[in-house]
Amino acid sequence: MDKILIHGGRPLSGSIKISGSKNSALPILAATLLTREPCILHRVPDLSDTHYMLQILMHLGAQVERASGTVTVNAEKIESIAPYEVVRKMRASVCVLGPLLGRCKEATVSLPGGCVIGDRPIDLHLKGFEALGAAIRVEGGNVKVFAPKLTGAIINLTGKFGPTVLGTDNVMMAAVLAEGITVIEGAATEPEVVDLADFLNKMGAKIEGAGTRRLIIEGVKELHGAEHDIIPDRIEAGTFLVAGAIAGKGVTIKRVVREHVSSVTDALIACGYQIQWAENSITVSPNGAVKPLEIATEPYPGFPTDMQAQMCALLSTTEGISVITENIFPQRYMHVAELKRMGAHVQLEGSTAVIQGVERLFGAPVMASDLRASAALVLAGLKAEGRTEVSRVYHIDRGYEHLDEKLSELGAHIERVKA
Ligand code: EPZ
Repeated sequence: MDKILIHGGRPLSGSIKISGSKNSALPILAATLLTREPCILHRVPDLSDTHYMLQILMHLGAQVERASGTVTVNAEKIESIAPYEVVRKMRASVCVLGPLLGRCKEATVSLPGGCVIGDRPIDLHLKGFEALGAAIRVEGGNVKVFAPKLTGAIINLTGKFGPTVLGTDNVMMAAVLAEGITVIEGAATEPEVVDLADFLNKMGAKIEGAGTRRLIIEGVKELHGAEHDIIPDRIEAGTFLVAGAIAGKGVTIKRVVREHVSSVTDALIACGYQIQWAENSITVSPNGAVKPLEIATEPYPGFPTDMQAQMCALLSTTEGISVITENIFPQRYMHVAELKRMGAHVQLEGSTAVIQGVERLFGAPVMASDLRASAALVLAGLKAEGRTEVSRVYHIDRGYEHLDEKLSELGAHIERVKA
């Protein structure tokens, strides 16, 4: 397993280009199952997770071609059983359920395991499918959904932790081929949900209200092929903005949608960093004294849970007492134990982390656990004195396209070691 070595203390500067969004590409790749015609997707990031999704599509019978960032999928002939050996590798595989139910009126996918950020239920996905007329059967570690036909319904997808992103995606992808009108109340409003709705509408779907809590979907008989550019990855963008804050003297990120990262830029401004916007880029620079922060993760447009670990790394070296509350995945603190091994002072109290900023962090061998926790350890290593060795970097490769290479372009002393 590869490792990433970081020699901290080198100031970052310069600019990097943000890749296409992982969390947009995954459901959009799944959505290509909804048509017999070819779909062409541009700016699909080269990640383990997108690789797994392409494997699933091929296992289902789709023809897949990839030429650098462009992927062509032809799902003319498909079956409806997603194989365990591929699905088990990625929880987001669950988002093939909706398109398979919409297209084939049945689907069998192995149940998503939990993962290190806690239990990952799909009860809301299944509630939406049942409302559309599907029967659900859970057996042998698989979930099977089937319906003689799908009929539009009024569905509320709000759960105890708020809206569900992939649940909204899944139900929307089934509803586009249902008979009649479906209204999804309590829909997720993340930019990735909007990007999926835009793609589905290009395929001939009739979806209104994307980006609001209320989606109105008029079912159609069938969908046709379409071509689409995946939006930039706002979490990668946020991660590099935090890198620029923790160790930069002027870092610019290009190909970013300003409003998609406004909660992150607001947080960095509140901490005392300077943010400058240009046409299609954002620059973060130090701007004198920095201040501690109290912040809570919320559904979009609030501060994203996927940026919580990265913020924890930054606030670990920000003088004063900061408080982070994790409202989406309350156990999402795998990074804390490792940050403490680097000298951070973080006290966990339920879903809240109380952070006493320290003068300096010290490089150490640390272990990646989940995608964003791993990124947080790399960010801490940029700041820490000495050498940090991050093992199990396959977690990083799931969701960041060439993270070490991009940080190296910004001047970081970072290298990937084949273990
Ligand atoms: C998506 O996961 C993202 N993944 C996650 O990003 C992100 O953290 C999450 O949304 C929240 O923004 C992809 O888009 C591939 P949810 P998703 O359903 O859709 C609970 C990353 O690092 N819930 O919005 O699976 C759930 O337990 C990943 O890129 C139910 O209770 O998350 C959580 O507490 C990590 N029942 C909350 O809702 C359900 O049926 C939000 O989960 C579904 C979810």
